[in-house]
Amino acid sequence: MLPLLLLLLAAASHGGAAAQGPPIGVNYGANADNLPSPSAVATFLATQTTINRVKLFDANPTFLDAFAANAPSISIAVSIPNSALPSFADQSTGLDAARGWVRDNLVPHSGANVTLLLAGNEILGPVVVPDLVVALLPAMRRLAQALTLEGLPNVRVTTPHYLGILAPSDGIPSNARFRPGFDNKVLAPMLKFHRDSGSPLMVNAYPYFSYNAQNLNYAIFRPNAGVYDPNTKLNYTSMFDAQMDAIYTAMKKLGYGDVEIAVGEAGWPTQAEASQVGVGPEEAKDFNAGMIRVCSGGKGTPLMPGKSFETYIFSLFDENQKPGPIAERNFGIFNTDFTPKYDLGLLRQGSSGSPNPSPNPSPKPSPNPSPNPSPSGGGKWCVAKAGADATTLQNNINYACGYVDCKPIQSGGGCFDPNNVQSHASFVMNAYYQANGRHDYDCDFKGTGTVTSSDPSYGSCKYVS
Ligand SMILES: *[C@@H]1O[C@H](CO)[C@@H](O)[C@H](O)[C@H]1NC(C)=O
Ligand SMILES: *[C@@H]1O[C@H](CO)[C@@H](O)[C@H](O)[C@H]1NC(C)=O
Repeated sequence: MLPLLLLLLAAASHGGAAAQGPPIGVNYGANADNLPSPSAVATFLATQTTINRVKLFDANPTFLDAFAANAPSISIAVSIPNSALPSFADQSTGLDAARGWVRDNLVPHSGANVTLLLAGNEILGPVVVPDLVVALLPAMRRLAQALTLEGLPNVRVTTPHYLGILAPSDGIPSNARFRPGFDNKVLAPMLKFHRDSGSPLMVNAYPYFSYNAQNLNYAIFRPNAGVYDPNTKLNYTSMFDAQMDAIYTAMKKLGYGDVEIAVGEAGWPTQAEASQVGVGPEEAKDFNAGMIRVCSGGKGTPLMPGKSFETYIFSLFDENQKPGPIAERNFGIFNTDFTPKYDLGLLRQGSSGSPNPSPNPSPKPSPNPSPNPSPSGGGKWCVAKAGADATTLQNNINYACGYVDCKPIQSGGGCFDPNNVQSHASFVMNAYYQANGRHDYDCDFKGTGTVTSSDPSYGSCKYVS
């Protein structure tokens, strides 16, 4: 109700100097050497913007104290590292370990408005470590218990998932379901935990990792022909809406359509490799503005009209020390001097732009709009990036071989030679990518995969396409 009210208020004062955008969260990552101090950041957010939530990638006491002192009303999501989960999952010692963590990391900073505790990040993939999958839900339960016992019963517990928790699909939201193996065994009991404890299922929704030159308009909320869902008779003109409704559909199929959905990360970079189309301040603005309208502007999605979602834009600042492709360092919405990189209407006063971005903000429709999330035809293969880290590649092999046939890379198989991790990983990463419907995010593999249009097959080794 509150976001809708704010939207109406904003609409009523449209054009006025004090017009405000809707409340929204941001990821506050600090993998950079040029950022303002946490105190300056907390003060800026609380006094100059309508941003009312931040998500931290750890429980850094300096950050928590900065928010306690300068922004006590901003709610904070704090993250626990993946490696800590098994200690909380242990049957006999887990609860004590969880209470200890809460006592050490949260209790001393009770002035900071921590409302969400995130147990690890993307435990269910793209890279799966079986021990962590097994530990995840027990750890979440112990943390929730520990919070109550340590006097913080209002902190809810969840964990951010990547979108690949959905089974491969044709992009039609009503056909979505969770990945077999995770659906009944992991996600159904987790959804029950969410329902019982009033916490949201959290997903990282990135049309950025699924778009291509053909469906760019569909990915960034620009005018396009839409994707028609024949089962619901709904017409989707945004990939983000389709992703949210796919999650909702999958939850509903397990009987948990009533659990809240939160968006842990969603964003669009302003810069990438020169050859990449669809990246820049205008594209980033159109995506984020469209996403804000859906999540906290009162719009909701076709299957969840009028609903609001607790959402964290990725990201507050560019992070110049992040490894990987150029885009990884360019997801920020503010410059380090606190000026907006582009206008999202999130400044409290004197924002130069409109507080309610128009539905069709861009005058640049592509000449050939296509709504297909993954167009067929035209060879596309997934391979390991040159120089990718060997350990990550080995993890990719271990993971993908749970889903695809890995005999070809075993001794005697057609792709065994050359017998090295780079070559073996490429073969199975491609098999996985093809089997899952060739979404770009199925070739991400923590940034170690890349899509190519040249057939990597050689001699006796035939890559599927
Ligand atoms: C903490 O955040 C919650 C959720 O956004 C909000 O309802 C509450 O008022 C905040 N607490 C303070 C002390 O401002
Ligand atoms: C879906 O919406 C778009 C944009 O409004 C429109 O061009 C298209 O004809 C619609 N498609 C269907 C099947 O309703």
